[in-house]
Amino acid sequence: MKIFTAAQIREADAFTIAHEPVSSTDLMARAAGKCADWLLDRFAPVHPFFIFCGKGNNGGDGLVIAHRLLEEGYQVTACLLEYGNKASEDYIYYYRRLQQQYAGRIREIADVTGFPELPASAVIVDAIFGTGLNKPIEGWLAGIIHKINDQHGRHTIVAIDMPSGLMADASCRNTPVIQAHYTLSFEFHKLAFLLPENAALVGEVQILPIGLSPDYITHTPVRYHLADKEMMHTIYMPRPAFAHKGTFGHALLVAGSYGKMGAAVLSAKACLRAGVGLLTCHIPRCGYDIMQISEPAAMSVADEVHEHSAHFHEQADARYKTIGIGPGLGTATATARSFEKLLTCYKRPMVIDADALNILSVYPSLLYQVPAGSILTPHPKEFERLFGPSANDFERMELLSKQAVRLQLYILLKGRYTAIACPDGAVYFNATGNPGMATGGSGDVLTGILTGLLAQDYAPKAAVLLGAWLHGYAGDLAAAKLSQEAMTAGDIISHLGAAFLECFY
Ligand code: ACO
Repeated sequence: MKIFTAAQIREADAFTIAHEPVSSTDLMARAAGKCADWLLDRFAPVHPFFIFCGKGNNGGDGLVIAHRLLEEGYQVTACLLEYGNKASEDYIYYYRRLQQQYAGRIREIADVTGFPELPASAVIVDAIFGTGLNKPIEGWLAGIIHKINDQHGRHTIVAIDMPSGLMADASCRNTPVIQAHYTLSFEFHKLAFLLPENAALVGEVQILPIGLSPDYITHTPVRYHLADKEMMHTIYMPRPAFAHKGTFGHALLVAGSYGKMGAAVLSAKACLRAGVGLLTCHIPRCGYDIMQISEPAAMSVADEVHEHSAHFHEQADARYKTIGIGPGLGTATATARSFEKLLTCYKRPMVIDADALNILSVYPSLLYQVPAGSILTPHPKEFERLFGPSANDFERMELLSKQAVRLQLYILLKGRYTAIACPDGAVYFNATGNPGMATGGSGDVLTGILTGLLAQDYAPKAAVLLGAWLHGYAGDLAAAKLSQEAMTAGDIISHLGAAFLECFY
């Protein structure tokens, strides 16, 4: 699913109005009607509704919703905010209609003292500003936003299109923004919804289709995308009937150190469960027995601290389809040197995680030796160590995309919506996964899955999108069975099979 900017959303509205064709009042009725359907479905008539409307088209949506709920016999107060702006034409149209039939249900509010007393179990609908917001909310309107937010613990707050005060494409940190329980948005996600700094503002997002022009949607290029199941179906490759283990590649996993052999084992198990043909694990001598006993399907080679011989490095390119390096690796100087040597010899895309990323942040010139198309999998702290801080999440997304282009790598930034930046600058958000996966070892599992997919001849872009999706999906299955609290990284691995079955069989 594409993620459009606020300007593109305005273009999509205008394109639909011109080409469907449909009048703007009818398009507004269609959009607001979808919201009203959702509200009617969710809330019984016992809930008194307070619908706060600005004077732009977002306010117009609010007026249509108020009218529809009144027609259905709900108790509604339309709270119209009387501030400087001239009302939009569509707002005026729907204001007149509401006034003709339900004048008694309209309350005009010209300052913060006009804020109504809310009875128990009220539902507040925020239709003050949508994508038209062009500066932070100030003055008494900001007072209204604070008053609504004061009700957060007592009443349900539903934002129409966007919580007022939020911008689709820019940071609104430290400015007044509605804290919604639900955001009813149209046709597409907005970038703002997917970023951690807005998590407490948007609540649960519902995307309602309103029939915007498929022509516009298909042909308009965007930088940001939300990965979905449909995309995974285009990526997944069923196994050929006459396959043998050589068909699915021989991967090398360089992982583990004293006290961190668990990371190597988790990664190895995940790589095998992702379908790799053969797996060799390069581990320190202290972990040899651990790996052999924990995962009999993996082969092991060992030395003191990953100080591979020159011969080992030279052979790696010919022997291994891909390499996953980093889980529990440690950052010993000898290990860093060995990683450097490996980078001079190995020329195919690899997966770089955890301590291997930490080595890159200590020796940043090594980043230029990472084979093009490789996948880096930092969490936000590792990302900051590698590429520096950002003032806010929007700037971090810019930086992520810029670095992926500059280095010609895939950079997967872990988070609620893991962001995957590609060498062409596109960024894909992954929607699967849950807070139960915020537990030690889940990153090692992801590295194993990505390594396993690369080994099977998935192109790096396909491997990183599919791997992130399956990792989150398996995590969701594990949480559904065990709870987010009780699940561990190992449970993600044990649900990987069910994830394949549910998604692709
Ligand atoms: N303080 C005061 N006023 C402000 C502030 C602020 N901080 N920020 C912006 N404004 C003003 C703007 O200047 C603008 O007024 P102007 O038009 O007089 O310049 C107004 O507030 C914009 O308000 P919004 O309601 O946020 O923006 P818009 O009128 O563009 O509507 C929309 C947004 C279309 C409702 C969007 O949120 C959306 O896509 N909604 C869903 C779909 C929908 O209903 N689409 C059909 C509508 S038809 C059509 O739009 C043509």
